[in-house]
Amino acid sequence: MQPPVTIVILAAGLGTRMKSRKAKVLHRAGGKTLLRHVVDTALELAPAERIFAVVGHQADEVRNSAGVPGLGFIEQKEQLGTGHAVMAGRDVLAKLDGYLMVLYGDSPLLRATTLRRLIDSATTGDGAGVLMTAMMDDATGYGRVLRDAHGRVSRIVEQKAATPEELSIREANMGIYCYRADLFWKHVGEIRPDNPAREYYLTDMAEILTRAGHAVEAMQIEDAREALGINSRVELAAVDRIFREQKVRELMLGGVTIEKPETVTIDSSVCIGMDTIVEPFAQILGHTRIGENCRIGACSIVQDSSIADDVEIGPFTIVGTSVVERGVHAGPFARLRMENHVEADAHIGNFVELKKTRMGAGAKASHLAYLGDSVIGEQVNIGAGTITCNYDGFKKHPTHIGAGAFIGSNSTLVAPIQIGEGAYVGAGSVITQEVPGGSLGLGRAQQVVKPEWANKRRALGKK
Ligand code: UD1
Ligand code: CA
Repeated sequence: MQPPVTIVILAAGLGTRMKSRKAKVLHRAGGKTLLRHVVDTALELAPAERIFAVVGHQADEVRNSAGVPGLGFIEQKEQLGTGHAVMAGRDVLAKLDGYLMVLYGDSPLLRATTLRRLIDSATTGDGAGVLMTAMMDDATGYGRVLRDAHGRVSRIVEQKAATPEELSIREANMGIYCYRADLFWKHVGEIRPDNPAREYYLTDMAEILTRAGHAVEAMQIEDAREALGINSRVELAAVDRIFREQKVRELMLGGVTIEKPETVTIDSSVCIGMDTIVEPFAQILGHTRIGENCRIGACSIVQDSSIADDVEIGPFTIVGTSVVERGVHAGPFARLRMENHVEADAHIGNFVELKKTRMGAGAKASHLAYLGDSVIGEQVNIGAGTITCNYDGFKKHPTHIGAGAFIGSNSTLVAPIQIGEGAYVGAGSVITQEVPGGSLGLGRAQQVVKPEWANKRRALGKK
């Protein structure tokens, strides 16, 4: 059985080059904060109780954003270096046996399989631990890995402290380590801030352990980009793009047609069924599930919603936190703002807004309407220009429309209001009282016709 692994994610830095008031790990790529990406990867390797994030800048926000129950947090009040960051958790962490793996909260591209390899090589070897390294043509900014005459790792030298000869070394330290916990905690106190930056460098552990007679190994990865730490918004955008490309590729291989895939934005948590077509510039975000054989129109935005099979979301349509059943047509230019439930085969046309509304099966609101806080029965027809007046300036009120009712165009339904099953509301009505089932509600001024009035008016004008 493999010994347990404790994972420490360093996330205390502000990230000056982001030029932001927000801590770096709170910035988002691929629909998740950078820290969340790393936490999700860590969760593939260890239970939440064995994962700790070291927080400092905006500690509370970072803590709240992580959103994983059981995850541990360590506060590093002053950022005195990567070694200091791990030491900040000594009281909690040193009690945990097995292995200690260190990751960075700003390196969201690292895959669990690569980390698993690092853990395997640490736990099967007989040394004190393993560093992740990569051969780079240009290792500027990275620590360089120095080896002795036998090719064994002897120490890591930081860019700033390196001699010109050391700077020519191509093997770069990725800053990710897996150490035997007992040896790490026994020796970590030996790190000294004896460098120009007066920082406690975690990199010193390689030399300290080697000097104490324990071998430290290096595991090379193919592509240093996997360990890329985001420093600026330019890198943030580049990483976001990589996540988007991965997601879209995964969906296409799973049977989803994506037109102009380079233009769509789909979060990693989204699921989409076979033979669904996603048109250019669509955004599908958050915890959205889309069934089979749907069409998600160009430039539409679907967020945290559940869409069944055979649904058509027209172009420029916005769907938020809503449930849409099979066979529904919505859009183009519709807005299902929040918490709606649209039953099978209903039709929501252009410039129709729904808010906290249940639309019955086969019901139609084909053009220009606002339906808020409403329960609308099956097969109801909502005429163009219908408005539910759900708000009296203080409170929201409900509207109930029974199955099969017909609401004439340009009706104003002043809530709270009930329209019974199969009732009719005459076009242009302002409805303030209940319309019982099967009856007609009319609430408009009586029409007046004045014969010959127009002809006389014109004749008068000519004089
Ligand atoms: C570090 C390594 C370097 C390696 C590089 C790989 C050291 C001394 N150097 O350098 O060898 O090539 O990573 O990317 O470790 N952090 C804290 N608290 C602190 C300091 C840092 O939480 O007091 C966090 C930062 O938020 C960041 C991570 O640790 O996520 C790395 O720190 P950073 O200062 O960026 O280290 P590098 O200079 O990149
Ligand atoms: Ca860095």
